[in-house]
Amino acid sequence: MVQLAHLSKSFVTPGEATPVLHDLDLTILPGEKASLIGPSGSGKSTLLALIAGLLRPDAGTVEVDGVAMSDLDDRGRARLRANRIGIALQSDNLIPFLTARENVELAVAFGKRAGRREARRRALDMLQRFDVDHRADHKPRHLSGGEAQRVALAVSMANEPDLLLADEVVAQLDGETAANVVDEVLTADFAVLFVTHDVALADLVERRYALDDGTLHRR
Ligand SMILES: Nc1ncnc2c1ncn2[C@@H]1O[C@H](COP(=O)(O)OP(=O)(O)OP(=O)(O)O)[C@@H](O)[C@H]1O
Ligand SMILES: [Mg+2]
Repeated sequence: MVQLAHLSKSFVTPGEATPVLHDLDLTILPGEKASLIGPSGSGKSTLLALIAGLLRPDAGTVEVDGVAMSDLDDRGRARLRANRIGIALQSDNLIPFLTARENVELAVAFGKRAGRREARRRALDMLQRFDVDHRADHKPRHLSGGEAQRVALAVSMANEPDLLLADEVVAQLDGETAANVVDEVLTADFAVLFVTHDVALADLVERRYALDDGTLHRR
């Protein structure tokens, strides 16, 4: 599902280069659930952005579903994300001037080109799965942090992706709500790579990675 080979990434700002990832390899099989831990600043979010084609590597290759990201133009990458990859980032996932329901509808309509009714039905269904359907008509700024995270997950899963990339998505949730969310994500049939600082959560899956010094280690 995901194949990363010899991936390297540095951020260059005037007067400074920050090496983040170095010669990193990773394979995620279809349906596989994998967790990723690592210190703050170690490059976890950068890695997810590279897999999603939101960032370009300095060296190495990113393949998703057998397609090399570097072979696609911006449009092709956007389409691949819309159809195959669900992404829930640490923050700023939602379009601020659309309601929760409209945010999910847009993801459905863009990916599947579903009709309005189908998109609406699916959006409400997804919000219900994450227990935020009672906030369907709220704009993101009127949602709590944890509600916004759950709406973002509903958006990311609305298109039945083949791969879900989730970055600290239960960090703001209470134990019971987090457990429900994790259950929704880990019982799905798509592949998942999720970032967390919660080791107990990371340990729920068999494929456990830690990012340290720019490379991945199995744990
Ligand atoms: N656009 C950017 N420009 C310059 N440096 C960046 C940029 N994005 C990230 N970095 C740097 O790259 C390093 C890795 O950042 P990243 O966000 O991937 O860390 P992380 O492991 O997700 O951390 P956290 O656990 O705090 O979310 C950090 O040192 C960060 O300051
Ligand atoms: Mg991060």
